[in-house]
Amino acid sequence: MLIFAHNLIKMSIHIEAKQDEIADFVLLPGDPLRAKHIAETLLTDAVCYNNVRGMLGFTGCYNGKRVSVQGTGMGLPSLMIYASELINDYKVKTLVRVGTCGGLLEDVELRDVIVAVSASTDSFSVARYFPGMTFAPTASFRLAQLAVENASELNIHVKAGNILSSDLFYHFPEEGDAYQLWRDYGTLAVEMESAGLYLLAARLKVEALSLLTVSDHLLTGEHVSAQERQFNFTNMTKLALSLAV
Ligand code: HPA
Repeated sequence: MLIFAHNLIKMSIHIEAKQDEIADFVLLPGDPLRAKHIAETLLTDAVCYNNVRGMLGFTGCYNGKRVSVQGTGMGLPSLMIYASELINDYKVKTLVRVGTCGGLLEDVELRDVIVAVSASTDSFSVARYFPGMTFAPTASFRLAQLAVENASELNIHVKAGNILSSDLFYHFPEEGDAYQLWRDYGTLAVEMESAGLYLLAARLKVEALSLLTVSDHLLTGEHVSAQERQFNFTNMTKLALSLAV
């Protein structure tokens, strides 16, 4: 009976939208307040469809195209809950993460926009599905190519390559430099979600891409202010929205 009622009003466990309230193209910021800011500043006629756990989601219009923007929280497990429900319960077809990352290499600079072509990971959330083997979580080639093309039209400089999706933000001193191994293999930056997004997209046959702005640098220790971290990602978000049009 409960399951029937749940189906009837078309909610999922963590998203309270009705079936038709979410667009088939969704932007995924980690921070729900960034979802709100994107809806308020870049979308027209935006309506909030989710406030469960404060994980805000909105649907509005961008250049005539219906798009949604949904907060995911931090880490693979949190993102994978929201992405799974968007794909399985709301039939979302295109998911574009708009996030922040820590720069790993010298030639990656603060505020750079990164197109995450692939997302290596230390997370068991991916490894559990491939015992003794390694899966390569990869962006949609179509979206990655379109992002690089649109970036040059929008005059946004991007760097495209491999990133690391890590389960950990903080490390113990005895680990030494936890990122040197990844630097040795040319990994541009570290964040905490994209490998989970790419794994789900591959398994559930939808398209996904992560665009990331470098908010801090793990070689130099530089970082942008908290306010800039929350709000100043307009270039990257416009690039992400250009993929919908
Ligand atoms: N580590 C992990 N994730 C991040 C970082 C970082 O330094 N910066 C932004 N997202």
